[in-house]
Amino acid sequence: MENEKKTLLSGIQPSGELHLGNYLGAIKNWAQLSDQFDCYWFMADLHTITVRQVPADLRRRTLTQIATYIACGLDPERNTIFVQSHVPAHAQLAWVLQCYTMFGELSRMTQFKDKSAKHADNINAGLFTYPSLMAADILLYQPDFVPVGADQKQHVEICRDIANRFNGVYGEVFKVPEPYIPKTGARVMSLNQPDTKMSKSLPEGCVFLLEKPEDILRKFKRAVTDSDRDNPVRYDPENKPGVANLMQIYAAVTGKSLPDIEREFAGQGYGAFKPAVGEAVVETLRPIREETERLLADKAYLESVYRAGAERASRVAGRTLSKVYKKVGFLAP
Ligand code: TRP
Repeated sequence: MENEKKTLLSGIQPSGELHLGNYLGAIKNWAQLSDQFDCYWFMADLHTITVRQVPADLRRRTLTQIATYIACGLDPERNTIFVQSHVPAHAQLAWVLQCYTMFGELSRMTQFKDKSAKHADNINAGLFTYPSLMAADILLYQPDFVPVGADQKQHVEICRDIANRFNGVYGEVFKVPEPYIPKTGARVMSLNQPDTKMSKSLPEGCVFLLEKPEDILRKFKRAVTDSDRDNPVRYDPENKPGVANLMQIYAAVTGKSLPDIEREFAGQGYGAFKPAVGEAVVETLRPIREETERLLADKAYLESVYRAGAERASRVAGRTLSKVYKKVGFLAP
């Protein structure tokens, strides 16, 4: 049975603190994917140094991110969880694939254009060849699906192009993966700028998964709504985007429907509604924060998880890398 499962893989950059948008939009839905798929999740630390990082922060965030994923329900017994830099095959295959990636196609990547505009003082070669490394991450594991957000779809596309190009020369070496856009998953907007996605770069409108309850409540109490006094808690994303966002969040954390929520708060103002949403979020995040803290206090366990993950990943990745080395003509060691 195990062998009939399709394979799914995704990488997450440990470049910032995880927030409610990451959780409700993606992570929350990942736990159940292991019923259906053979899942690989890795901390894409090699990718993060394409922009400057503070070394101690990167190390801490990588470990915290592993602990948080486990706390969010990713069971290490049923998922392969590892750190990208622990599996050298990623960097090794990336080099080979760089030689099968065209300058022109890398130049067209929107993320490269955005990031080089944002970090104009550090337009390094890694930022440019990032998609070849990402293609290596993926193709090493021969996955069927790669769950990514909309911003990464272009990178999955170029991965497919690289795989097809390589296969065209050497035969069917790589499985050509599909992007996997999950059906469920809420799009969480910033609490104080509800026309923008919740993001760590807008910290006052962003609820971090490990944030203290009083800070979370404060952010919800200050969330932007509107001056509608007659029938305030009503789902109308067009005209009431702030309220719609809070209702979506409340629905996602309580499982209640939007009409139920309208009934629950009928005749009540934002003074009652906003703290109620805040409380519900606090209660959803409490066990995640507590479990993350408990895991972070148990370094030996976390080490055992990422070491076992890297070992399993290295076995699979090593097979693909050997095949590639042979195909391109490298002498066997
Ligand atoms: N580039 C992805 C991001 O920034 C992270 C990533 C790296 C990734 N390698 C991957 C995602 C492989 C999916 C598959 O979000």
